[in-house]
Amino acid sequence: MSRGRLISFEGLDGAGKTTQIQLLEQWLNEQQITYLRTREPGGTPLGVEIRRLLFHHPELVITPLAEAFLFQADRAQHFSTLVLPALATGTHVITDRCFDSSIAYQGVARGVGVELVSHLSMLATQDHVPDLTIFLDLDPAIVHERTDGRIEHSRFDRENAQFHATLREAFLKLARTYPERIKIVNAAQAPERIHQEIVTLVADVLARES
Ligand code: TYD
Repeated sequence: MSRGRLISFEGLDGAGKTTQIQLLEQWLNEQQITYLRTREPGGTPLGVEIRRLLFHHPELVITPLAEAFLFQADRAQHFSTLVLPALATGTHVITDRCFDSSIAYQGVARGVGVELVSHLSMLATQDHVPDLTIFLDLDPAIVHERTDGRIEHSRFDRENAQFHATLREAFLKLARTYPERIKIVNAAQAPERIHQEIVTLVADVLARES
C-alpha cells in the first residue's frame, strides 16, 4: 500500500485558506480520494485545549518561547496520534497550517529564532515534512480589509501591519528556500482560479511515486 501524502495550507489570517480547503475537499470527494482534513492547532482533543489556552484567554500573558512550545506540544500530539497513523494507512492528510506557521509566527515574527523553532518542529513531527505546502499569498493590506469584519479575532489578528508584513516575508523566504515543497499561490485571484491552481499542484503530488 502506498503511503498517504501530507498537504499543508499556509497563509496570513484572512488569506482564504478555509474556502480553498473546502473547494479542495469537494474535488477530492468527486475523485473518490480518501483523505483526512485537520488543522493546527486543534486537530486532537489535547490540541483543542491548547488552542483554547492560546486564543481564548486574552488575560494570559504568554511569553514567545512558551507560545512556541504550546504550538509544538499541539503538533507533537497531532503527528503521533493522527497525522502519521493516517499517512501510514495510505490516507492523504490535508492540514490547515503546519510547522511553517511556527517558523514564520514564532521563529521570525515573535523573535524566538528560526533555527530553534525548526529544530523543535522536527522533534514534534518526528522529522516528517509535508509533501506539498500551499502558501496562499496576499498583500497584508488586503488581509487587513478582509479580517476587519470578523466577529472573533484571534491573538494575531490584532497585531499591527508591520507584524503581517514580517510574516509574509518569512513565508516567502521559506518558499524560496524550499521551492520543491512550498508553492506560492496568488490569493488575490478569483477563488475558482486559485482552486484550479491548487488542484493542479495536488494532482501532481498524488500522482507521484511514494
Ligand atoms: P486560526 O483561527 O486557525 O486562524 P487561520 O484561519 O488564520 O489559520 O488561528 C491559527 C493562528 O495561530 C494563526 O494566527 C496562526 C497561528 N499559528 C502560530 O502562530 N504558530 C503555529 O505553529 C500555528 C500552527 C499557528
